[in-house]
Amino acid sequence: MSVQRRFVKFLGLAAVGALSIGLAACSSSGGDGASGGEGDDLTTVGFVAVGPEGAWREANEKNIQETFTEDAGFELKYAPATNLDQKSQIDAFTSFVDEGVDVILLSATEASGWEDSLKRAQEAEIPVVLLDRGIEPDDTSLYVTRIAPDNVEVAKEVGAWAVEQFPDGGNYITLEGPAGVGVVNERNEGWDASVDGSKLVEVAAQTANWSAEEGKSVTETLLKANGNDIQLIFAQNDEMGLGAAQAVEEAGLKPGTDVKIATIDGTLAAMEALAAGQLSYVHEYNPLFGETALDVVNKTLEGESVDSYIIVPSEAFDSPEAAEAVLADRQY
Ligand code: AHR
Repeated sequence: MSVQRRFVKFLGLAAVGALSIGLAACSSSGGDGASGGEGDDLTTVGFVAVGPEGAWREANEKNIQETFTEDAGFELKYAPATNLDQKSQIDAFTSFVDEGVDVILLSATEASGWEDSLKRAQEAEIPVVLLDRGIEPDDTSLYVTRIAPDNVEVAKEVGAWAVEQFPDGGNYITLEGPAGVGVVNERNEGWDASVDGSKLVEVAAQTANWSAEEGKSVTETLLKANGNDIQLIFAQNDEMGLGAAQAVEEAGLKPGTDVKIATIDGTLAAMEALAAGQLSYVHEYNPLFGETALDVVNKTLEGESVDSYIIVPSEAFDSPEAAEAVLADRQY
């Protein structure tokens, strides 16, 4: 990176504060008009990523890689975790700091344990942008911004839909993502904010690790343990909800009629299942924020300040008709 850019970057870091920026249009195409490097002076971006985890993650990481291209002025160094292991992420993060990349993008497999790494990046004057996943404790002085849909708000909306569907109450189970992942805590917080005080009764909450296979096996077990007396399933992502639908059917129950299933993500398989009546509610958690991330990186390296949390708009779908209306245009 040119000396001039480094100096501007240092000034930019000093000026980082809370000033909103408009969300760039979220799309899967590469950024246009980006002010990354020129020629061989590309802006180097270390992407500490999650790696293979499911359809949402695949769409998100593909979108980032399709946005931070050489044509846009970037050299993106993609570092997926090894089997979702945080140590492999911390090792990659450390390597990027030692290498002196211009900026680091971090999607954390675990919310805690990042303070030392983030402080090292700060000492090296390397800005860090959180993608999707937050950190706990949330020290906003340690990173430029977090770009994600608002998990608490999304889950609140799922909970509000559930309460509306069951005015006289009902038994439900929650299929959670892995323990220790920030978005799981945020989704529980939002759901509880809507459901606490309603007539809905949680009979079990258990992780199914974002997976369809585990979503099915956990649901099978919980249906048996509760004599099939479950009317609602809140699955914190699509894959677990799709697995739960299989278990509901294999228990001789009808998804959407005997058991309503609500999920978060909005991937194509879930939208197709909503259209078919297998799922009853899908809240999008839009993964296509690559252009917003590129805008944030350019603004940060040019010394402009950005808001400490940039919320990616995401919409809810609550009927087969709503799903059918958008299926043809889904980008993930
Ligand atoms: O952090 C976002 C979550 O991670 C998605 O909801 C889930 O599908 C992914 O694995």
